[in-house]
Amino acid sequence: MPAPDPAASAAREADRVEESAGRQLAPSPEFLDRVRRVRESLVEKVEAAAHARNSPLVRALVAGSAARGTFLTDRLDVDLFLLFPPDLPRERLRAEGLALGGAVLTDTRVRYAEHPYLRGSFEGFTVDAVPGYAVSDPARPLSPVDRTPFHQEYLSARETPELVGQVRLAKQFLRRLGIYGSEARTEGLSGYLVELLVLRFGSLRGLLGAARSWRIPVRLADPGREPPRLPADVALILADPVDPNRNVASALSRRNLATLILAAGAYLDRPTDLWFSAPSSPPFTRADAEHRIGERHSHVTVVVLPRPDLVDDTLYPQVRKAERTLAEELGRSGFAVLGSAAGADPERVYLLVEVAHALRSPVRQRDGPPAGIDRVGQFLEKWGVGNDEVLQGPFVREDGSLAVESRVAVREAEGALRAALPRLSLGKDLTPRDPGTAEVRPLREIADSPAVTEALRALLAKQLPWLGPERPPSRR
Ligand code: UTP
Ligand code: MN
Repeated sequence: MPAPDPAASAAREADRVEESAGRQLAPSPEFLDRVRRVRESLVEKVEAAAHARNSPLVRALVAGSAARGTFLTDRLDVDLFLLFPPDLPRERLRAEGLALGGAVLTDTRVRYAEHPYLRGSFEGFTVDAVPGYAVSDPARPLSPVDRTPFHQEYLSARETPELVGQVRLAKQFLRRLGIYGSEARTEGLSGYLVELLVLRFGSLRGLLGAARSWRIPVRLADPGREPPRLPADVALILADPVDPNRNVASALSRRNLATLILAAGAYLDRPTDLWFSAPSSPPFTRADAEHRIGERHSHVTVVVLPRPDLVDDTLYPQVRKAERTLAEELGRSGFAVLGSAAGADPERVYLLVEVAHALRSPVRQRDGPPAGIDRVGQFLEKWGVGNDEVLQGPFVREDGSLAVESRVAVREAEGALRAALPRLSLGKDLTPRDPGTAEVRPLREIADSPAVTEALRALLAKQLPWLGPERPPSRR
């Protein structure tokens, strides 16, 4: 009898798991037929509306996952693109797009991505009506969505029914890990990126087999083509086949790509149905967070800002920057920073920093210049006799430079941040015009709210998603 081969049995188990998940994710033929009819009737109705209004519409098409069957049924949105002549001024593009969308959709509301579009309902489906320009060269788009018809053409010419099933499987795998979607809030993989990756590696398994040994930054070069140049902060680079200068993965963060790399290895070694089950996060409450903080003997300080009137895609990059700025400031000013996180609700933005101790040392060491240079005079003048902040010095350190130890008047993290806030740049729209509108408080003075609890989870319950169930959050 041959020795049992663990790799072969894992592969057999992965076959079973993927087969079963694939069956559950596959839309029924009846549903696919409904989607097809909705696609056709949307295009027909919008073209009729354009005709009736004398609108300069060049063409309407449904693109995205609803056009290719690569959607996850429980988060299907139909992407309707309305293409106008390239010489139409932007304000008219916007107005025409909204008017045509409004003529065919019900319960509409304007939403904003890189430019405004209309979300509404059509025969029970959620539809996004997105205006764009009918360009002839996708490498020279006039608006951010003008490549879309070319994406549609590229993918639909290459995707077989098997590949379509693999795309759904891949999307569900990523969704379960919390890294599906290229919105600024998620910083994950876009639907289009997933489709290109599955196409390239032939299947989800092919993709994961390659991904498990990726090292960030990852360049996926096309054979015979110069790999695109890599900006320093990009995690993955994959040229858009319809516009080789554009990186399809530009929104993907290093953290999320690393999560994918680690998950790939973990799944291939031990595939189970759980990898494709509905995403769920173990319960985590404010009390759990407080218990953990007690256990860690740490301290959480919170900056609360009024939320500027911005869409998430504009807000979140600023929130992340502000969070980093606060953590760095506390680190520089004598606190041992353990971590930071942020949350937002419609009214407020919360920036949290966890420090090992609520109070910094009352003694601050200040570096002076080395002996023999001009600046010595200034340093001695500032810190010489008569400065009652001085606790010790000035003195010469072993390395030959001057130093002084001074008294720290404000020891609380909150006080230190309050003093620093006016000179910190928290992001273009987040920096309060009146520094008085920024509140800095210890966590215990912050009212419980879902946004705060979400940030506390990100701060205190970090764990690789597949290692759950999490250890019990508290031993009450
Ligand atoms: P979606 O984000 O809806 O992606 O964008 P999707 O492929 O339909 O995937 P899911 O299933 O809804 O998550 C629709 C299309 O719009 C284009 C892409 O071609 C995409 O397929 N698009 C989207 C862009 O060109 N740029 C973007 O920033 C976003
Ligand atoms: Mn879509």
